[in-house]
Amino acid sequence: MKKRLAILTSSDSSYRGEREDKSGPEIRRMGEEMGWSVVFQEIYPDEQNILAEVMEKIADEDMADLILTTGGTGFSPRDVTPEATAQVCSRMCPGIAEAMRAYSMQFTKRAMLSRGLCGIRGKSLIVNLPGSPKAVKECLEFIFRELEHGLEILQGDASRCAD
Ligand code: MTE
Repeated sequence: MKKRLAILTSSDSSYRGEREDKSGPEIRRMGEEMGWSVVFQEIYPDEQNILAEVMEKIADEDMADLILTTGGTGFSPRDVTPEATAQVCSRMCPGIAEAMRAYSMQFTKRAMLSRGLCGIRGKSLIVNLPGSPKAVKECLEFIFRELEHGLEILQGDASRCAD
């Protein structure tokens, strides 16, 4: 069965319709290309409680295996996606966020400014991607296959790493 992907864009301006969300659609394009089924895609304002509530619902109601967020990971006072993620996760996965930042540094040193986190709630994995479509592409192409393996272990389809 196809793995299920939920996409959350966190952006005040896109939520208000002032700026086109190009990052959510880029995640969808890449996810579908990798054989995932996109079961949820919405744009939200940069509000910690709203983002946390949605992530919680998707995980607790077993709506998706993977929740990818885009945006809200920077230094603006309104950037709160990592805080919402930390609020709902029972276990953090720092290696995924570290890997994205390390890989991204070859493209821009500003990758160090993304505060994105990754964590687990129930059987769902939550990964914060930065906000630009370029950053989404750079990060996802590096981590996607490994996320799939992590999910297999999380969900009991693989008991341990083969390599
Ligand atoms: N990561 C990659 N791979 N490519 C990028 O262009 N941009 C950075 C960083 N991560 C970038 C990146 C920049 S400029 C910022 S400010 C932070 O992500 C935070 O972005 P956000 O606030 O849109 O989430």
